Order: sequence, then structure tokens, then C-alpha cells
Amino acid sequence: MGTGQPRQARSSVIPRYLEQVYWWAYVHPRAVQVFERPWLVNLILFGNYGRLRDAALEALGTSVKGRTLQLACVYGNLTPRLRERLTPDARLDVLDVLPVQLDNLAAKLPTDPRVTLMQGDSSSLTLPDASCDQVLMFFLMHEQPEAVRRATLAEAMRVVRPGGRVVIVDYDQPAPWHPLRPLMRLVFKHLEPYAMDLWHHDLRSFLPAEAPPARLEKTSFFGGLYQMLVLTR
Ligand SMILES: C[S@@+](CC[C@H](N)C(=O)[O-])C[C@H]1O[C@@H](n2cnc3c(N)ncnc32)[C@H](O)[C@@H]1O
Repeated sequence: MGTGQPRQARSSVIPRYLEQVYWWAYVHPRAVQVFERPWLVNLILFGNYGRLRDAALEALGTSVKGRTLQLACVYGNLTPRLRERLTPDARLDVLDVLPVQLDNLAAKLPTDPRVTLMQGDSSSLTLPDASCDQVLMFFLMHEQPEAVRRATLAEAMRVVRPGGRVVIVDYDQPAPWHPLRPLMRLVFKHLEPYAMDLWHHDLRSFLPAEAPPARLEKTSFFGGLYQMLVLTR
């Protein structure tokens, strides 16, 4: 058990959209019990969890050096796998606004002085400018209202160093023929109201105009339903 995981405490207000829209997925005390099952997180992504996780990990590197910031906890084994790739002098900081999610992640990780779990809001980080080598966001963007999404992207671009990378995996607009379009439209309408933004707008359009990435690579998965963006600052 990772109960000895270093933890930086900081009281953060739980964002309204999490309490009002995503209470069932993250905030409710039973949410973790329900969703922390590999088969379920994989089912929610139509069998693509491993592929998307591995794409994100490959984008960060076979061995991950320097300081990596993961914005928001993720169900499943993404973070344990990321930890396994850290070089001996690397560090991984994982920030989430919900203590229950940080506790759940701590339970999935062995005690490791290179890993710190931090409570905080992705849209207003306390880290200094250019203090990270990589930033990872896995299915965070579609859950945030536009203003929060823009602020989170601006913060990610601020804290990553010049030449460092921001790796984002999330939903995208699927191809017109995609058989899951009607189902996903229903899911988003009833459960994930901000996700349709990523169908209607290119994720790049939410990036801060004043800090455009020096380089941007996009990879599409599963008929375009998912995307990975790798931004180099
Ligand atoms: C990364 S997202 C979605 C992950 C994906 N559904 C999964 O688990 O496979 C879920 C996490 O984002 C966190 N989160 C949402 N908004 C946040 C914010 N503004 N700041 C920090 N964490 C946030 C939630 O507390 C939750 O732990």
C-alpha cells in the first residue's frame, strides 16, 4: 500500500462542475469502489484504455527523466506504469483537487520518494514557471467547462519549460461514419455536458494565444473518437 506516499496538503475548493456533474464518478465516497476496476475503465473506453495509456507513456519516453506533472488522477494503472518508467533521479508530481482520488492513487502506488501527490486545482497551479519537463493530462479536458479548460491549458504551458512537452489524451470528434457517434452523443448529453466542446472545436483552439507551442503533433485513435496531442513548448 502506498500510504506513506509524500503528500503536499493544500485545501482547495471542490469545483462546482465536479460536485454537480461528476459527483457520481469522482466525488461520491463509493465512486472509487465502483470505478476502480480495470475492466470497467477499459469498457468505458471501448477497449482502448491500454492503447491510449501506452500511447501517452510512449510520448513521455521509455525512461522518463526530469520532473513530470500529471494533472488529475486516473482510474486504472496509468500512474503506476508511469512510475515504473521514472529514472532514479526523476520525479513525478500528481495533482488532483479531490482528496478521495489522491487516497485512491496512493493505494495503487508503492512508497516512492520520487512521487508526490498534491491537492490542488489544475486551473491555478502554485508551481513556478518552467518548473516541469513534462505535463500529462489523461481525459481531463473534456470534463472541464471551457473557462477552466482554457485556464488548465494555460497553466500547463506556463509550468512546462521551453522544449518540454505537454501530453494530452482525450476525446475528439469521431469520423462521420463512426457507429458509436449516436451513443456517445447521448452519453455526453446526459452525463458529460462539456465533452461535446471537443467535437465542436479543435482542442488546439483552447490553447493560450500568448504562449503557442513551438511544435504540435496529433494522433487519432479508434476512428477519431480519441486523440493524443503532444505539444512542445
Ligand atoms: C483525469 S479525469 C478523468 C479520468 C478518466 N475518466 C479515468 O479515470 O480514466 C478525473 C480526475 O480529474 C480530477 N479533476 C477534475 N477537475 C480538476 C481540477 N480542476 N483540478 C484538479 N483535478 C481535477 C478529478 O478529481 C478526477 O480525479
